[in-house]
Amino acid sequence: MSITQLPAWQALVAHQRDMRSVHMRQLFSEDAQRFDCFSLALGDLLFDYSKNRITQETMRLLFELAVQAGLPDAIQAMFSGQRINTTEDRPALHVALRNRSNRPIVVDGADVMPSVNAVLDKMRRFTQAVRNGEWRGYSGKPITDVVNIGIGGSDLGPRMVATALAPYADGRIRVHFVSNVDPSDIATILRHLAPASTLFLVASKTFTTQETMLNANTARRWFLSRVGDEAAISKHFAAISTNRQAVEAFGIDSDNMFVFWDWVGGRYSLWSAIGLPIALYLGMDNFEELLSGAHLVDEHFRTAPLKRNIPAIMGLLGVWYINFWGAQTHAILPYDQHLALFPAYLQQADMESNGKSVTKDGKPVNYATGPIVWGQVGTNGQHAFYQLLHQGTRLVPCDFLVAAQNHNPIGNQHDVLVANFLAQTEALMRGRTAEETRAELEAQGYSGGSLELLTAAQTFEGNKPTNSLLYKKLTPFTLGMLIALYEHKVFVQGAIWGVNSFDQMGVELGKRLAKAILPELSGTTTDREATHDSSTCGLIQQYRAWRDS
Ligand code: F6P
Repeated sequence: MSITQLPAWQALVAHQRDMRSVHMRQLFSEDAQRFDCFSLALGDLLFDYSKNRITQETMRLLFELAVQAGLPDAIQAMFSGQRINTTEDRPALHVALRNRSNRPIVVDGADVMPSVNAVLDKMRRFTQAVRNGEWRGYSGKPITDVVNIGIGGSDLGPRMVATALAPYADGRIRVHFVSNVDPSDIATILRHLAPASTLFLVASKTFTTQETMLNANTARRWFLSRVGDEAAISKHFAAISTNRQAVEAFGIDSDNMFVFWDWVGGRYSLWSAIGLPIALYLGMDNFEELLSGAHLVDEHFRTAPLKRNIPAIMGLLGVWYINFWGAQTHAILPYDQHLALFPAYLQQADMESNGKSVTKDGKPVNYATGPIVWGQVGTNGQHAFYQLLHQGTRLVPCDFLVAAQNHNPIGNQHDVLVANFLAQTEALMRGRTAEETRAELEAQGYSGGSLELLTAAQTFEGNKPTNSLLYKKLTPFTLGMLIALYEHKVFVQGAIWGVNSFDQMGVELGKRLAKAILPELSGTTTDREATHDSSTCGLIQQYRAWRDS
């Protein structure tokens, strides 16, 4: 049975019809307690979802939908290590990586926690040795620069966290990230590095990803061409992977290998040894604070009733707009420069997880699934795309994030930042009616045709939904909370839509196709050329001509 046949789904369809004529202005003016009713606190984080097109009835129906779609069971299934990634026949247990309480989590009859803790211990020893200069390069110099070579989940998470938590770095280690197969990426970074004080981390779950392996080989050639001694590699290359054989074949000492497990999805892996660049940059204590923040949210998600469960509510609000109001995108708008990469990180977390069109039983869905996730830091976005949010024809639910304390308090700039955050969320909710606009223009002396023209152009419909996430300060703990909130939000939506949020078959196909086309670029003609469309053939021919000219 499709979820669209569930009684709660049907009731939501009818309820949405009633809500179409309701404006949030009206809801706020009718209920002075609306903020109290539709906001929740967790640790140093406040989640305000009152500026949404919802009533108590909307939320009641959404919670009913969650129950009828089996969300509570799905949550228990994930935390208890069931094989919820059905196509790959594995559990999805990123929650075990940050299970600071050490509650046993059993997979195939064995508790995974001892192995998780053993890797954390190894990471602590290694990061301490590198950071305090005990680990030395081949020539006896301490390591000053760490280069993480990885892509997708083996890059975006550590890169985003390193950017977000830069105020916690003590300057002992600089960290760099290479992901793109475009040689300009690695070339730009290597140009400034000295081999004697550089440590490369080759981060790849599979250790077969084309971009990562090419960049890793380029790094090795760069290193050997300057050092000339294969034996020196063991002091300058470490690997993070699930594939021991491939790591050894690459020539990385198995002592320098940090393992994780097939039950850690790439986009959920920053909590595993994939977080090593974070730990090297910020120290292991800060990395463990990140884990602790995520663990707090995990326990909240696992145990809080749906109506007090922040990730459940975030996910259900998304379902409300996507499936009942036709929203196609979701904007992430951090008013926090340190979260500049958060939208890009969440693109992978959300779009690779829920960009699916068949259910777990292999049936095509007859409803929309994962949204297009996008965004940009405020206030920059205000001067770029907010016009469309305010007055365009599309419905774009937005999440606004802001800290109460800035890491760089300068004058009143942080208050100005927060004033913009508040002004935007309020304006999106309230809008400006034609009467208000006209009155303002008349007061400025407009009349006749120009008054009418400007009234039409300056009227804002409002009623645009936003969530506000206000946190005390962007600490490692708070960042761990934020990431886990979104991971679980994505999980909630995948559970409601009945899709497998933990595979990525579409990306796998792209990887194979690129490999197949590569040999055709080296020759002058190809056997397969006849099978391509004329556009692909035309582009290949022009590429070869310009490349070789
Ligand atoms: O982009 C597809 C993907 O499989 C991601 O899920 C993953 O994070 C990325 O490739 C990198 O994979 P690996 O860590 O195996 O190199």
